[in-house]
Amino acid sequence: MTSLLHQIEQLRSAFIQELQKASHTKDLENLKVKYLGKKGPVQSLMLELKHSPSEERPHLGKLINDLKEELVSHCDNSLACFKEQEMRQRFEKERLDPALPGRENFLGRSHPVIQALEKAVDILIGMGFSVRLGPNLDTDYYNFEGLNFSPDHPAREMQDTFYVSTDWLLRTHTSNVQVHTMEETKPPVRVVAPGRCFRNETISARSHVFFHQIEGFYVDRHVTFADLLATMDEFWKKLLGEEVETRFRPSYFPFTEPGLEVDVRCTSCKGAGCRLCKHTGWLEVCGAGMIHPIVLKKGGFDPEIYSGYAWGMGIERLTILQHKIPDIRYFTQNDMRFLRQFS
Ligand code: PHE
Repeated sequence: MTSLLHQIEQLRSAFIQELQKASHTKDLENLKVKYLGKKGPVQSLMLELKHSPSEERPHLGKLINDLKEELVSHCDNSLACFKEQEMRQRFEKERLDPALPGRENFLGRSHPVIQALEKAVDILIGMGFSVRLGPNLDTDYYNFEGLNFSPDHPAREMQDTFYVSTDWLLRTHTSNVQVHTMEETKPPVRVVAPGRCFRNETISARSHVFFHQIEGFYVDRHVTFADLLATMDEFWKKLLGEEVETRFRPSYFPFTEPGLEVDVRCTSCKGAGCRLCKHTGWLEVCGAGMIHPIVLKKGGFDPEIYSGYAWGMGIERLTILQHKIPDIRYFTQNDMRFLRQFS
C-alpha cells in the first residue's frame, strides 16, 4: 500500500515539474501521451494494482483514477491557456491598424528620357514621318565617310568615338540612319530615327558616354530650305507649346549645306534671361540643314533631281531643359526618388 501510494505521489510531482517546463501546446500534447498513454506510468500503476491486497484495491484504484483525472485536467487547462496565448500573439502580429498610412503602390513607368523621346516621335508621326531604327554598332562609312566627313575630321578621332575595330564603331549620332535609309528605299523618304548614341567623353554633369538623339529627314523633289524652317517651326511649337518662337543661326556640319543651329525662346524665362539660357533668352535645341549633295549621291539619290533636309536633337538635353534637371547623370543612376517624379 505504502509503496503504491508513494509511487502515485512521485508520479504527481514528476508530472507537475514537467508541466511547469512546458512552453508550447506541442509540449503538452507530448506530456499527455507520455504520462497517460497506454504504455505510460499511470497505466502501469493500474496494472500493479492487481498485486496489492484485495481490501486495499478499491481505495488505491480510486486514488489512481483521481490522479489520472487530475493529470488530464492539468493538461487540458494548460492547453487551453497556451492556445489562447498563441492565438493572441498571432492576432497581435496580424492586427490591422486602420489608422496607419496605406502602403503606396508604385506602378512602373517609362524613363523620363523615353517619355520625351516618345512624345517627339509621336508628333513627327503625326506630321507624316515614319520611324526607322538604325544600328548602334555601325561602320565608319555610315557614321562618317558616307556623311562627307573628310578622313582627318576631328570627330573621327579616338577621343570622341568608341571604335570596336578599325572599321566598326558605336555610332556617335543618329545621322548614320540617313545613308542606310537612302540605300534601302526610293524617294520620297520622310523618316524619324530615334536611338542611342555613344561618345568617348568624360562623364560630367553635362555630358555622358551614351545619350539619345532623334534624327529627322525628308528627301523628295523640290524640298526647299523654307520647308526645313517651316517644319522646324511647326515641330517645336507642337513639342513645347504654341507660344514657342524659333530662331535659326548659320552653322556647319560636313553633311549639310547650308547648316543651321536651331534655338527656341527660353521656355523658363520666356526670353528675359535666366540661368537656364545663360542669360541669352534662347535655348539651343538642335542641329539642322539641307542634306549635302554628296550625301544624297552616296545614298544613291541624284542631287540634280532630289533635295532634302535633316535635323538631329539630343533628348537628354531636351529633357534637362524641360524639367530643369541640374545633372545629366541622374538619368543613369536609377535612383527611384528621381525617376518617380516623372509620371
Ligand atoms: N548629327 C548632328 C549631331 O549629332 C546633328 C545634325 C543632324 C545636324 C542632322 C544637322 C543635320 O550633332
